[in-house]
Amino acid sequence: MIEWLFVPAAYLIGSVSSAIIICRLMGLPDPREQGSGNPGATNVMRIGGKKAAAATLSGDLLKGLIPVYAAHLLGMPAGLLAATGLAAFIGHLYPIFFGFKGGKGVATTIGVLFGFSWVLGLAFVATWLLMYKVGKISSLSALTAAVLAPAYAWFIVGNPMLVVAVALMTVVLLWRHKSNIQRLLAGEEKTIKS
Ligand code: G3P
Repeated sequence: MIEWLFVPAAYLIGSVSSAIIICRLMGLPDPREQGSGNPGATNVMRIGGKKAAAATLSGDLLKGLIPVYAAHLLGMPAGLLAATGLAAFIGHLYPIFFGFKGGKGVATTIGVLFGFSWVLGLAFVATWLLMYKVGKISSLSALTAAVLAPAYAWFIVGNPMLVVAVALMTVVLLWRHKSNIQRLLAGEEKTIKS
């Protein structure tokens, strides 16, 4: 039973907002009050450039990867891996340390997927990169990768618990990107630079 403590621990780790902390440490404006208002790597790129964005991306990705991979290494069952990944993801979206106002969850999702399976994580990242090469829009790249992620999980991992966890993250990612979707449909979405 004690292994289920991984779930609240993952939520607490997910609640550490890399974007807000890195912006504070680097003397940059609060990402919740600049650009798109999203505390995530894309918006930190707009505010503070590549180094700040890379640090944010790494931090948010590790929040998903570390708890899931640790659970994996300890041989925990798929249900617990799924719950741990979802808890880290929810922590990023609703961080207890930052008034429950967090980011959209893309980088943390990538970390969780890498924790489930390196091939699955790579499939998501490859899709993101391919779409970014084509469209140069972070949200469109993330949305495309997110929509395909449950199918990737089904073919690459196959475990129903993990596939359901990935599908849940996809649904929530789409919902968190609803303003991005509206801007995309109107042809007004921001790029990484605007
Ligand atoms: O990871 C978030 C990204 O998909 C969109 O970010 O700042 O353009 O809303 P943003």
